[in-house]
Amino acid sequence: MVKRKVWLAAVLLAALGLGVSACGGGNDGADTREPDNTAPADSTAAQAEAVYKANCVSCHGADLGGGFGPELKNVDQRLSADELFTVIKEGRGQMPAFGGSLSDEEIQALVEWINAQ
Ligand code: HEC
Repeated sequence: MVKRKVWLAAVLLAALGLGVSACGGGNDGADTREPDNTAPADSTAAQAEAVYKANCVSCHGADLGGGFGPELKNVDQRLSADELFTVIKEGRGQMPAFGGSLSDEEIQALVEWINAQ
C-alpha cells in the first residue's frame, strides 16, 4: 500500500514537472521576441520590410526582383536616397504616391531598407 502511494506520487510529480517545463518553454519563446522588438536597428528594418510587404510587394516582387514595377535590388545604382524618397512619396508614372498613406519616417526607413537589400 505504501509502495503504491510512492509510485503515484512519482507519477504525479513527473506529470507536474512536464507541465512546468512546457510552460517554461513557452515563456522562453516570448522572452526571445522581446529583445528584437526593443532593438532599434532590427525593429526599423523589420518594420520597413513589413511596410514593403504590405504596399510594394504586389508590383515590385517579394525579392525586389520586379514585376509590374521595375526591379529594386540595384535601384541605389540608378537613384540617390533622396530620389528614392521622392519616388515613393510622390509617385512616378504608373507608380502610386505613398505620401498620403506612409509617414516620412516610414518612407525613410523603407529607403534605407531597400538600399540595404
Ligand atoms: C501599383 C504598382 C506599384 C506599387 C504598389 C508600387 N510601385 Fe514602385 N513603381 C511602379 C512602377 C510601374 C514604377 C515605374 C515608374 C515609372 O515608369 O516611372 C515604379 C517605380 C518605383 C521606383 C523607381 C525605380 C527606378 O528604377 O527608377 C521605386 C524606388 C519604387 N517604385 C519603390 C516602390 C516602393 C518602395 C513601393 C511601396 C511603398 C512601391 N514602389 C509600390 C509600380 C508600383
